[in-house]
Amino acid sequence: MKILVINGVNLDMLGIREPQIYGGNSLDEINKNLSKEAEKLGVSIEFVQSNIEGEIVEFIHSGRLYDGIILNAGAYTHYSIAIRDAISSIETPCVEVHLSNVHKREEFRHNSVISAVCMGVIAGFGEKSYSLALHALADKK
Ligand code: DQA
Repeated sequence: MKILVINGVNLDMLGIREPQIYGGNSLDEINKNLSKEAEKLGVSIEFVQSNIEGEIVEFIHSGRLYDGIILNAGAYTHYSIAIRDAISSIETPCVEVHLSNVHKREEFRHNSVISAVCMGVIAGFGEKSYSLALHALADKK
């Protein structure tokens, strides 16, 4: 089983960016921890990140070659129809992930334009949100 983890806009700033909301670990540390978890499950995992909407769209297209996608689109979650259309243009199941509980935060974060085309949504468990998504995809196979 092959999983692609896509992190979107501003997630390269984890560790520096609002640690009280997103935790103190960098994206590299989060990815390393998730890699260990994937190894235990016998799952092959790859990681990409971009701040550019079009690049994220291309990463999603490349997700056709994987068995599952874990996507934290960052703020694009709330308004990118291009990312939504990219997800719905491929068959690969995609899990929407957020470190923070977006529903507890500002109202503009309550709406996701991508949830309806994702297999499921996991939000609010910090770094563990990614690992819960990995288990959800691994269990599905
Ligand atoms: C986020 C939540 C988004 O609202 C925000 O814009 C982010 C991070 C999260 O992981 O909690 O950049 O996706």
